Amino acid sequence: MSIVDTIRRSTGKLLPTKYKMPIRGHRVLVTGAGSGIGRLMAIECADRGAAKVIIWDLSEERAAETAATINAAGGAAEYQVVDVTDQEAVEAAAEIAGDVDILFNNAGVVSGRDFLDNTQESVDRTLDVNVRSLYIVTRPFLKGMVERDRGTVVVTASAAGVVGVAKQTDYSASKWAAIGFTESLRVEMKRRKHRVNTLSLCPFYVDTGMFDGVKTKVPWIFPILRQEDVARTFVDAVEAGRHQVLLPWTVRLVYIGRLLPLPLFDAFCGLLGVNATMEEFRGRPGDRV
Ligand SMILES: NC(=O)c1ccc[n+]([C@@H]2O[C@H](COP(=O)([O-])OP(=O)(O)OC[C@H]3O[C@@H](n4cnc5c(N)ncnc54)[C@H](O)[C@@H]3O)[C@@H](O)[C@H]2O)c1
Repeated sequence: MSIVDTIRRSTGKLLPTKYKMPIRGHRVLVTGAGSGIGRLMAIECADRGAAKVIIWDLSEERAAETAATINAAGGAAEYQVVDVTDQEAVEAAAEIAGDVDILFNNAGVVSGRDFLDNTQESVDRTLDVNVRSLYIVTRPFLKGMVERDRGTVVVTASAAGVVGVAKQTDYSASKWAAIGFTESLRVEMKRRKHRVNTLSLCPFYVDTGMFDGVKTKVPWIFPILRQEDVARTFVDAVEAGRHQVLLPWTVRLVYIGRLLPLPLFDAFCGLLGVNATMEEFRGRPGDRV
């Protein structure tokens, strides 16, 4: 036995398990795939040879457009109009969708309001779409992944899930929960010896419609990201069997920042907030909760 094998054997239990998941030949479902990052991840998966890409979105117009784009390019896509917070609708749609090997829980909303200006209704909607839906949508597909002993559950979280930022108590809380969901599920799968990976995607500001009003006001250490680059990096991470992606790389500084005395860390967090009025913060009309 070579020395490398000996080290591998003795440290095997300590090393992270990586389940590489090629997109080619696999069935993919993306929620919130009618626009932004979800739309481009769906198209990227089709380009990489997914057997089928299933598009879920609240908006029929957007979902149909993504599916048509993929089919026109020679891919295999179908769409369903689904509200990911509606358990009955999700279960019915999942029956029709069939087995899924790679599930992207990507649909998400943001209110962008100061805590004192926010309504409970809007907070509830953020938590419903960004957190409760993870249970509702993952449950029907996870069973099949476990039975086949193969699968990847992806969650589009956010860098707002590793550090709190101004005007986003509901959004930030929802994304911390989303990362916790992803990590816990991975540990559970590993303990039960199921070859099911989970991956949390944590970008800072991306040039989608979500944060339309604040594009010129983002903190300088986190430049706005291009959605094409983000989607490609995220699909690469699925194929590589990674567990978490932080974008841009400067988000990693947060973990170093947490070692600082608290007042210094708070000052660092202050740099990350977006100093914009509610009017400016407004996203694409109709999307804001
Ligand atoms: N844009 C950013 O800067 C940014 C940064 C970090 C994380 N994210 C996260 O990335 C994900 C995608 O965001 P995006 O920027 O592409 O936004 P987007 O608004 O362009 O796309 C979100 C899509 O989700 C759909 N959707 C909303 N609620 C839904 C529901 N209940 N059921 C089904 N579909 C629903 C919308 O119709 C929309 O098509 C979200 O989870 C978001 O929180 C975005």
